[in-house]
Amino acid sequence: MTRPFSILMVCLGNICRSPTAEGVLRARLAAAGLDKRVRVDSVGTGDSHVGCAPDPRAIECAQRHDIDIAGLRARRLQYEDFDEFDLILCADRTILHEARVRKPRTAHADVELLLDWAGVGNKDVPDPYYGSARDFERAFRLIDAAAAGIVARLSEGRH
Ligand code: 4NP
Repeated sequence: MTRPFSILMVCLGNICRSPTAEGVLRARLAAAGLDKRVRVDSVGTGDSHVGCAPDPRAIECAQRHDIDIAGLRARRLQYEDFDEFDLILCADRTILHEARVRKPRTAHADVELLLDWAGVGNKDVPDPYYGSARDFERAFRLIDAAAAGIVARLSEGRH
């Protein structure tokens, strides 16, 4: 069997945006029957929440959309990720810069902005950590648009 195409979602803490992106993309891949062909994971560039579950507000927001992310645990982006994943998608331009700086020169992964897959005009998924439930919902919608774009592209066999 060929190796699944692999996508790594990255934000700062790996407790709000990127676990949401992991859960949303997994759900959309499963609905499209593509979940066996694509591996999805998420990490943070920072280490302050390593080992933690997603923020309760992110869990609640995903739950409202019938997506369960409560079992995920935060981990930090590491050098091996740049060879283990095909596509590394960053929640905002600061994260994109950080990930590109850390990418080893010979590493295999493409490092891109998540919302470049969404067709929404926005570049960054605004960090909802210091915000309200409404900010989590707004982040969710942007992430969901990107997940839909990714699944559409993969369904066409393009990636
Ligand atoms: P995330 O959100 O990067 O979407 O997981 C944040 C989580 C934690 C912090 C900032 C953003 N923090 O400062 O602890």
